[in-house]
Amino acid sequence: MSLSRPALLRRSLLALPAFAALPAAAQGLRTPSQTEGPYYPRAIPADADADLLRVAGQAAPARGMPLLLTGVVRGPDGAALAGARIEIWQADAQGIYLHPRDPRLDQRDGGFQGYGRAVADGAGRYAFRTIRPGLYPGRTPHIHLRAQPAGSAAALTTQVYFPGEPRNETDGLLRRLPPESRALLIARVMPMDGGQRAEFDIFVA
Ligand SMILES: [Fe+2]
Repeated sequence: MSLSRPALLRRSLLALPAFAALPAAAQGLRTPSQTEGPYYPRAIPADADADLLRVAGQAAPARGMPLLLTGVVRGPDGAALAGARIEIWQADAQGIYLHPRDPRLDQRDGGFQGYGRAVADGAGRYAFRTIRPGLYPGRTPHIHLRAQPAGSAAALTTQVYFPGEPRNETDGLLRRLPPESRALLIARVMPMDGGQRAEFDIFVA
């Protein structure tokens, strides 16, 4: 890609539309919760920042399609939640998790961080630099996500999906939701220099 990745992220964030008030019709939304799954890291890695494309001490960047995962964390009244804490964990480009229970752990991409944390800014916006997750047996591609408002003990655990993925039609966890709830878990994906941007707003109780 032509831009360095930090420059790419800065440019992408600057290009985001100005914060707009949430339409009244969207108030009262709740992001459906989904299972944490078996692959939440057993130990948080030493490098756990919001840039999953680079691992401290690893020369090679992550393999796969770069993805800027970003959105706004909102409360039940639609207000942005500054300072919310967000975690993500996901498979690498080959569908392998940073977890001892992954049967292909020895083939994992050591240049991919697999887990990251971010804190929402004053407008409730968070951003991760990651990749489009690879496939693993039995699931459609997804990113696990947990969001916790500042000062709250309650957290929302869910999964982020991608539009147009053929396996969305047969994924047990996604299909069990009614269509209107399912739509809240599918990111809006758009092209970006060197990869894609996925917008995923989070509505916590
Ligand atoms: Fe998973």
